[in-house]
Amino acid sequence: MSASPVSAVIVGAGHRGVGYARLSLSKPEMLRIVGVADPDPVRRQRAAEMFDVPSDGLYDTAQEMACAPRFADAAINGTMDRDHVPTTLPLLEAGYDVLLEKPICPTRAELLELLTTVRRTGHKLMIGHVLRYAPFYVAIKQRVMAGDIGDVYAIRSTEAVSYHHMAAAFIRGRWSHRSTNPILLAKCCHDLDLIAWFKSGVAPRFVSSMGARTVFTEENAPEGAGTRCLVDCEIERECPYSARKNYLEQGRWPTYAWESIEHIEEPTDEDRERSLREDNPFGRCVYRTDGDVVDHQSVIVEFEDGATATHDMITGTARPGRDIHIWGTKGEIQGFMEDGSFVVRHADPRAGHERSRT
Ligand SMILES: NC(=O)c1ccc[n+]([C@@H]2O[C@H](COP(=O)([O-])OP(=O)(O)OC[C@H]3O[C@@H](n4cnc5c(N)ncnc54)[C@H](O)[C@@H]3O)[C@@H](O)[C@H]2O)c1
Repeated sequence: MSASPVSAVIVGAGHRGVGYARLSLSKPEMLRIVGVADPDPVRRQRAAEMFDVPSDGLYDTAQEMACAPRFADAAINGTMDRDHVPTTLPLLEAGYDVLLEKPICPTRAELLELLTTVRRTGHKLMIGHVLRYAPFYVAIKQRVMAGDIGDVYAIRSTEAVSYHHMAAAFIRGRWSHRSTNPILLAKCCHDLDLIAWFKSGVAPRFVSSMGARTVFTEENAPEGAGTRCLVDCEIERECPYSARKNYLEQGRWPTYAWESIEHIEEPTDEDRERSLREDNPFGRCVYRTDGDVVDHQSVIVEFEDGATATHDMITGTARPGRDIHIWGTKGEIQGFMEDGSFVVRHADPRAGHERSRT
């Protein structure tokens, strides 16, 4: 590691961009934030104050910032999904290494343009596939690389997206429409990246996928359900998706739930309740939104060496979590990320089954 901290600019001072940049507050010897670009003046100013950025480091957009001479080692790109490539290309051209949030981008054409630009400019592009750094997956990867289970020939994984997470991000929230990004890309790009990572060096040959919206439909609205939980719903107290329960009483997903009133300096409980009654999208009945993302989807992959992998995304579940099962020619690894442990098994269990806790 270099002796002086990496200097970085935040591009998109939203939840994720600011989240990454907070490292500069806890570990100033590693990271220093010297610029902020965001078209939202309130977010830009809040980030500038939080990270003590002088006014000459502030820009309206990534594109404007990239027109100025480069003044940091790297850029942290926390813009929304569709803005990833249009904001990253000029930053790479301007000489920045870029940490780009996942999912990389929604189209193959954009992906190839990004790849070409990275190769031509020679700058680093790192994707926010943060699960590659989670101790659970790092430990599994180490066992696979050590050859403990031989050559990997099959992988199966599942991501269960809890009922309240599904409602907050993909039914009432910003990722509820395919036009932003299909939910598989928005949520399970981590899992598909992990599958490819466990087969590092072997490319997928065929990929097939199917999914549907089966749960969050108008036909499934329970009798007595209205259009807004706090306005016209007769069963609000019994519904697990009640906006009052989820966001006012249980305080779930506050950064998303109160986004529509984040420009109120210190919102009161009355401000929050009023917003849920009136125009906050989080006040809507989950069975009666205009969203179009699927609520379950499966993927099958065949790799060039004949290995296969499947991934299931299931949403609206009681318990959230990710599980993974990897089979190799000498053994298998099975684990549930939320338990923080996995088991390595061999057909001839000389030393017994091994359990690894991470
Ligand atoms: N790694 C993970 O596990 C994880 C988790 C959640 C979200 N994400 C991803 O992180 C990304 C950001 O999500 P978020 O919730 O922080 O979004 P956000 O909407 O809170 O922040 C995006 C910010 O980008 C700004 N912006 C828009 N155009 C810009 C431009 N041209 N130049 C500079 N700034 C611009 C917006 O004004 C906004 O403030 C998304 O792609 C999302 O899918 C990743």
